[in-house]
Amino acid sequence: MAKKLLIVANWKMNPGTQGEASSLAREVAKGTGAVQGVEVVLCPPFSFLGVVCEEKGQLKLGAQDCAAEQKGAFTGEVSPSQLKGMGCSYVILGHSERKNLLGETLGQIAAKLQAALQAGLIPVLCVGEKKRGERKDVVRQAGAALQGIAKTNVSRLVLVYEPEWAISSRKGAVLATPEEVGKAVEALRELLSTRFGKEAHGIPILYGGSADSRNIQGFLQEGNVQGALVGAASLRGAEFVRLVKNALLV
Ligand code: 13P
Repeated sequence: MAKKLLIVANWKMNPGTQGEASSLAREVAKGTGAVQGVEVVLCPPFSFLGVVCEEKGQLKLGAQDCAAEQKGAFTGEVSPSQLKGMGCSYVILGHSERKNLLGETLGQIAAKLQAALQAGLIPVLCVGEKKRGERKDVVRQAGAALQGIAKTNVSRLVLVYEPEWAISSRKGAVLATPEEVGKAVEALRELLSTRFGKEAHGIPILYGGSADSRNIQGFLQEGNVQGALVGAASLRGAEFVRLVKNALLV
């Protein structure tokens, strides 16, 4: 299992300005500066990667998506090698908002995953069911997105269990219980072991879905996750810093 916790901030299409992005990154860098035992990753929109990189201090930088190609005629796309060149170490792939709002398919996600690995980025692959409790779908998504991944790359993967019904911005969102998270994580671990053998034991699995400073400890303890992918709570500097610190108390 991963030794360090991993907390990834998914800012989605926020904040509104470069100045706000810069000060949020500065606040998180300052607040978590002395903290050991956790890797904190900020994933701003593409447009703010530059300013966040300048302010990030000890934090790591990530993007929220990448193209499946490294260069060429792909209007509006950003390649994994360009992201690497801008200072990114991570890239979120397969987020449910991209699947649902933009029609991203598991085949496209699998291709992006390969391209991200090829560019030296760590993919943070999101999988999660639409309807509460449909764990088979979670495993199906992971199996399809990880199609063709070589065993040699296994140590560079991160998975996120992201139940769609628990995402804070969704109408009627409800919080997953740590027990439910634990069951989904167990099912994902089984798939990873079958697919990759003992190499898979070190793959961190994170939880994403209304994680905040108050509930993070439950997810880490009973949910058996090695960290979190945080949306709304990552946009409030003090709250996000608190979340990181509380995670370390487990
Ligand atoms: P919330 O933390 O706002 O529920 O968002 C979860 C998510 O989509 C993480 O990427």
